[in-house]
Amino acid sequence: MVIAKIAPSLLSSDFARLAEECERMLSLGADYLHMDVMDGHFVPNLTLGAPIIKCLRPHTKGFLDCHLMVSNPEQWVDDFASAGADLFCFHIEATKDASALIDDIHARGMKAGMAIKPDTPVDVVYEFAEKLDQVLVMTVEPGFGGQSFMPTCMDKVRELRKRYPNLDIEVDGGLDPENIEVAAKAGANVIVAGSSIFKAKSPEAVISLFRKTVNDAQPPA
Ligand code: DX5
Ligand code: ZN
Repeated sequence: MVIAKIAPSLLSSDFARLAEECERMLSLGADYLHMDVMDGHFVPNLTLGAPIIKCLRPHTKGFLDCHLMVSNPEQWVDDFASAGADLFCFHIEATKDASALIDDIHARGMKAGMAIKPDTPVDVVYEFAEKLDQVLVMTVEPGFGGQSFMPTCMDKVRELRKRYPNLDIEVDGGLDPENIEVAAKAGANVIVAGSSIFKAKSPEAVISLFRKTVNDAQPPA
């Protein structure tokens, strides 16, 4: 049995007011603050790194769910831990030794997440699942906000949920009020959303709809 955790993606926020945007989202019901970290190599886009998290950390108590779309994620574990990241999520496609990386993330006091791109089969996760805190099933090609949700990725979510009833399963990319039920019924409980939350007339209503839909989809205890 898992519970809904809603994670607005700060990629869609006003970067000039990042700390205020974090507090605003938390006050509207967000559980996590999702930070997209891109290096221009693993994905064709660039965003922010540990120095921004370090500067943001004193201004928010929010849980920083850091999604690293970078090559060689190993090289950033120390920096993100020191900067105050709560969860370090790396892409399996970007690392050679996922097991050692998970141990390193835990040794530095962070939770460990593993992300898979839409074309990556879900079975690559199985050998690591017991020691992961979260698995992120990408529902768009990583790199940009505002893309369309890929429902074909839901088979992977269903398979993971069947095997791991208590695992936090995160989905990221194109989630909105129209498709949240599909994701929730497949078994996702950590919902990342950028455009559909930040561009909504009422972000609070979207967050609460996401939460209700996910919690309603849980099997009775
Ligand atoms: C895309 C990022 C996402 C992105 C989601 O690669 O990982 O977190 O911000 O944005 P939307 O919800 O607009 O697809
Ligand atoms: Zn992301």
